[in-house]
Amino acid sequence: MPAPLANLHGTMMALEDVKISAQDRGFLFGDAVYEVMRIYRGKVWLEAEHMERLRRSLAEIRIHGVDLDRLTRRMHETIAAGPFGEAMVYLHVSRGTAPRKHAFPKQATPLELLWVQDYDDAATARHRHIGTKVITHPDIRWGRCDIKSTNLLANVLANQAAAEAEAVEALLYLPDETMSEASHSSFFTVKGGVVQTTALRANILPGITRNFLVDLIRKIGMPLEERPISRAELFHCDEVFLCGTTSEVLPVVRIDDCTVGDGKPGPISLRLLAAHVQAVEELSR
Ligand code: PDD
Repeated sequence: MPAPLANLHGTMMALEDVKISAQDRGFLFGDAVYEVMRIYRGKVWLEAEHMERLRRSLAEIRIHGVDLDRLTRRMHETIAAGPFGEAMVYLHVSRGTAPRKHAFPKQATPLELLWVQDYDDAATARHRHIGTKVITHPDIRWGRCDIKSTNLLANVLANQAAAEAEAVEALLYLPDETMSEASHSSFFTVKGGVVQTTALRANILPGITRNFLVDLIRKIGMPLEERPISRAELFHCDEVFLCGTTSEVLPVVRIDDCTVGDGKPGPISLRLLAAHVQAVEELSR
């Protein structure tokens, strides 16, 4: 298995050799945005969509001057230097290094870092066919979760609560008891043959996998609703599944102490899982 390979401002190096200033604003303030992408048999999955979301995140927090075509080329060069097969890319841009003051520095060069590492999907793959367990947890994040920023403390705490309950994810609920998303994935529910997911607003990340599935569901012609989902409703759904770059499509069979449906991955979740697998296979052909 090749060691994780990084690329810092165009220079490739072992990830463990990357050195970043203690005055980097990503380190001090979480003043940074990121993307995580999967590589299947050497090819980046939904690359254009991820790079477009990165462009938007950068624009929303007003980090200017990052050449995304150049960053994409660096990513490809780093992948090619592998060899990497089943892998992931972590791509991270901070506002750069400057003396610690909250307001934007007058002069700072954005930090452009990425790395590629092998990705072992085995543990998640096992759960895709038997289903997994999640908890519900309060969403204590900020009001701009549509920006993929590295401010992930609330996500970390929620996911830790899940881990302590021997669950893989935390489904987050807002003060009004409607659901937002999960700590590092999106989710869908199914009730009476209708697929449901939260509508895109500032309180959720526009998940690339979520959007891919929304398009797929529409193409297949399955009924789909993008609307608020209450926490109470969750416990009466026929099916629930997580989705995301690392989860792909991951059926949920237990939420807190309740069983979802008959406790097995449901037919719609499995159909969408199979469609995702097929689309990934087509990419790498
Ligand atoms: N997480 N919601 C949140 C809060 C996320 O952090 C993620 C992704 C998703 C799913 O989005 P996508 O389909 O674009 O991966 C939803 C990444 C993988 C992470 O932080 O590791």
